[in-house]
Amino acid sequence: MSNPTLELTEAQIAVHWKEEDYLYAIPEFIAQANLKDPSVSKRFSLDNFPQCFDEYAELLTWFRKWDKTLDSSNPPFWKWFTGGTLNASYNCIDRHLKTHKGKAAFIFVPELESEPTITITYQELYNRVNEVAALLRDFCGLKAGDRVTIHMPLVPELPITMLACARLGVIHSVVFGGFSGVACGQRVADSGSHVLVSMDGYYRSGQPIDHKEKVDIAVTTALAEGQRVDKCLIWRRHEGKYLSNTPMVDERDYFMEDVLANYKGQVVAPVPMPAEAPLFLMYTSGTTAKPKGCQHSTGGYLAYVTGTAKYILDIHQEDIYWCMADIGWITGHSYIVYGPLSLGTTNVMYEGVPTYPDAGRPWRIAERLGVNIFHTAPTAIRMLRKVGPDEPLKYNHQFKLMVTVGEPIEPEVWRWYYNTVGRKEAVIVDTWWQTETGGFLCSTKPALDPMKAGSAGPGVPGIHPVIYDEERNELPPGRAGNICIRNPWPGIFQTIWKDPDRFVKTYYAKYCKDPESKDWRDWPYFAGDGALCAPDGYYRILGRVDDVINVAGHRLGTKELESACLVVGEIAEAAVVPVADDARGRVPEIYVALKPGVTATPAIEKAVVNNLENLIGKIARPKSVRIVPDMPKTRSGKIMRRVLAAISNHLPVGDVTTLANPEVVEQIRVMVQGEDPVVEAKDVGDDIRNFGDEK
Ligand code: WTA
Repeated sequence: MSNPTLELTEAQIAVHWKEEDYLYAIPEFIAQANLKDPSVSKRFSLDNFPQCFDEYAELLTWFRKWDKTLDSSNPPFWKWFTGGTLNASYNCIDRHLKTHKGKAAFIFVPELESEPTITITYQELYNRVNEVAALLRDFCGLKAGDRVTIHMPLVPELPITMLACARLGVIHSVVFGGFSGVACGQRVADSGSHVLVSMDGYYRSGQPIDHKEKVDIAVTTALAEGQRVDKCLIWRRHEGKYLSNTPMVDERDYFMEDVLANYKGQVVAPVPMPAEAPLFLMYTSGTTAKPKGCQHSTGGYLAYVTGTAKYILDIHQEDIYWCMADIGWITGHSYIVYGPLSLGTTNVMYEGVPTYPDAGRPWRIAERLGVNIFHTAPTAIRMLRKVGPDEPLKYNHQFKLMVTVGEPIEPEVWRWYYNTVGRKEAVIVDTWWQTETGGFLCSTKPALDPMKAGSAGPGVPGIHPVIYDEERNELPPGRAGNICIRNPWPGIFQTIWKDPDRFVKTYYAKYCKDPESKDWRDWPYFAGDGALCAPDGYYRILGRVDDVINVAGHRLGTKELESACLVVGEIAEAAVVPVADDARGRVPEIYVALKPGVTATPAIEKAVVNNLENLIGKIARPKSVRIVPDMPKTRSGKIMRRVLAAISNHLPVGDVTTLANPEVVEQIRVMVQGEDPVVEAKDVGDDIRNFGDEK
């Protein structure tokens, strides 16, 4: 089947997005960089695959060295560094004690500026992680291979709990704190966790938020899905003070600090884990309503995030590194906790919203703490630029390197980041990767490759991307298609928890050259993003090609959103489409059709919004809910989401005459846009233009 949308796309790209000029890192940066030897490209070429990745594994301390770099005998279930044993907590903590036990591992900045920052040294991190590990082992009876769900806001106790799990070989599954109790409960059930670690509350925009209330909902939801939670461990935001109004449940809920009192000073030997033992699960959205538990390994993952943190983030011993992401997402796992701590880095961790109490807050924090590596997402950069375009000029922060991750960044926004935040001194890396990939896939090497606004860059060392069309033809530079990676790498996830068939089907089936083949060359990884390679080998990411909407850098599956809408009794059908938004990138817009005989009321719209917030979280709040007389449908009854997305984004709806009910298209258009057709020529992006197309 030929795909005309790809042709259309190229024409549009040519019109709307010009090639940007190169910008170069300053000589002072290059002189100090970890990676300035151009021979890295040769070292990590496919000729040296997979041995090239030993370079990353050698950055770790192994209890037993690996026998084989890559066991690829059962594609696409790759096994890295087989025969080796190690412990992630040991690598992130113990091994640094000899040389810098007094160095800050974390500097925690509470959202309230009146509260002092809290510094946790590597020695203290060691003490606290050991005590929590002793508690998990002896109070909860947890052992290697068990799963624990952690649903917490961004506080130091979150990485402490994760590292305590890792010390025992317990698999942690961190659920983003902003997700609802129901969403947490579903993940508790899927992962089979008997223990849930949570917190009483935290601060957002200066207000305390009750978080413990989600625990009860999570436990009930999990039980309804057949999973009993025996113990809920509750951290408290303030010592001795309970920030929640939700009662503790006897024999189930325990305050961490009360139980920890019994484990003071205890030390737990780090459990040597096989390299391919799972380290954690991280749930992410896909094409069906059920989130996927991406399973990451211990050895391959840790080696990969350590190596890329060293080379791409350019972290040195004396740097002060601040990643504003939440640890509840993969960015926080890989590039706050595991990569940086494995390198012995000082991590700044900020509890709250970047614009609280004003848009100067991040620059104030950076100035005061001497942050020199800054890591954030386009959605935060857009927001800070909008609210305080000149704020960075008022402070004396000095960055050597800045990171953007999570969504395509518009060249205009990139330039503000570069000129105003980085003062043309900081080098920018635009890192493209995914929950599934563990670490970076495309980025410029900061001292070696010039920057180009809006382009992620070439594959990072050892990553060999390729662009395919729908028929598996390799496309030349300049043509848009699906970006895939030719080869496995140590950070790639191992499988979808309890669903290996879905793993193969989602990520490998489409471009597998021969399902019987045992040769890794026949199993390229399909990322689910559209992209284009420029003649210079730089990749520009165009957005998702599947049913995922990227809202402020968070992945929401349209099917997840739609099934949450259908919980409202009056609703017969729901369709969710992405709408371009200046601040958040994309926001979902909801179309619903009611059951026969039901009248449209504002109460129904409200019920939809409430359901989205309660079943998924506040990040799923839609732009609007549109109650329509009927969904535009094909003759075979398929909802034409493409037509709805065009209406929501003021794009031409195209030919709808072949639909089963073409008249409804105009009715909906008038409802959304008013009587006169409003078609805007703005470049909304390919994920929207091609949204809902048959893949
Ligand atoms: C998008 C976040 C453009 C992409 C690490 C990907 C990006 C999805 C970039 C993964 C970037 C991530 N430029 N798009 N630099 N980085 N994306 O799993 O669509 O939360 O597939 O991982 O975000 O989102 P995830």
